[in-house]
Amino acid sequence: MTEPDFPPPRGCPFEATDGHLARRETGPLTKVMLRTGDEAWIATRHADVRALLTDPKFSANRLDPNFPVIVGRRLQRQDSPRSLLSMDPPEHGPARRAVLGEFTVRRLAALRPRIQQIVDEHVDAMLAGPRPADLVAALALPVPSLVICELLGVPYPDHDYFQARTKTLLNRKATKEQAIAASDELRSYMDDLVTRKEADPGDDLIGRQIRQRRADGTADHDALTSLALLLLIAGHETTANMISLGTVALLQRPDQLAELRADPAKTPHAVEELLRHLTIVEWVTSRVAVADTEVGGVPVKAGEGVVTMNLAANHDPDVFPEPARVDLSRGARNHIAFGFGAHQCLGQNLARLELQVVFDTLFARIPTLRVAVPIDELPVKDDATVYGLHELPVTWDAAA
Ligand code: HEM
Repeated sequence: MTEPDFPPPRGCPFEATDGHLARRETGPLTKVMLRTGDEAWIATRHADVRALLTDPKFSANRLDPNFPVIVGRRLQRQDSPRSLLSMDPPEHGPARRAVLGEFTVRRLAALRPRIQQIVDEHVDAMLAGPRPADLVAALALPVPSLVICELLGVPYPDHDYFQARTKTLLNRKATKEQAIAASDELRSYMDDLVTRKEADPGDDLIGRQIRQRRADGTADHDALTSLALLLLIAGHETTANMISLGTVALLQRPDQLAELRADPAKTPHAVEELLRHLTIVEWVTSRVAVADTEVGGVPVKAGEGVVTMNLAANHDPDVFPEPARVDLSRGARNHIAFGFGAHQCLGQNLARLELQVVFDTLFARIPTLRVAVPIDELPVKDDATVYGLHELPVTWDAAA
């Protein structure tokens, strides 16, 4: 049962490794020992992960002492308001609905021109700079950071501050002290910002939430600070990693990329396939049972944790035939890269939109784009909760 190396390393950034897939053969759930020394079940099959994410007998409460902790530390304080990610019914539904309207497809469509402008400006700047360029620093990180800042009303010049602390927070190898310091600093940053906006709410997401919550009598400074912080963190680091890894995955498949370039109407399907194939967020969808239940016929007792291996589930051959093959026209939206059930990613429509605009623009404007180092030398984030690349050196022909 002991798994000194659980979770298994990702190895090659672009394939699901045996460590992720093998357990699927051993049954619906297997027990492992986490690095914390606690035992937990792991779920690797698509149907099992979806079943547990819709079973009300499982809780998302990261403060529950039995919640399976992958990163080796429990950070959130008992006295701080729970973030949306950690809430259960009946608290979760109303809190989510309060902000859901900001992320509808229709609402986000209005942001498309501004996202296009941001992407164009960053591509212009990259083309005007030296070759090779680091695509992470030039495009992948600044685009989603700028978009979420403008949406929330967070001053973009503060990006170095919150990006560095987010990186530490999501780094599995950071010490507990480093992680707590990063978490406290981010919270205090957002606390100050929300306080300033309470005095003068502008026309941004935080300002609109302040006005709405005052109008319906639910204004709560700490809860709004938690929500704004979650949106800021989840809104930039995730999409940034999908941009860098997705760019490499596309460049590795020139034939399929050519089809995409010829017909951008195919990009939405391609984005879904890349989300499935790369599954950059794993384990975050883990849960703890709060009553006796079962998953795939295996009894799970109250107090037991289940870790979800979404990369393995997104490579489940019962759902995705030939799962290792990247088929940009597969068009499967039943992947669980955005989770499933009540906590399914709130920002998924924004992430999709950003990815579509970035990929369409990047490959149309720089047809000769290529990775400037051997793929196996790319610095992968195998030390982070959200998978991705630390850097992506790219180059192109001068005429581009
Ligand atoms: C490619 C990019 C992204 C990926 C792969 C991703 C992935 C996920 C996953 C797997 C969950 C489920 C967590 C769980 O069940 O415990 C989640 C939840 C969430 N995501 Fe994302 N996300 C992305 C982008 C974004 C963006 C751009 C935003 C914000 C604008 C965002 C905001 C959130 C929030 C607020 C939740 C919590 C929802 C809830 O608990 O009700 N995400 N995300």
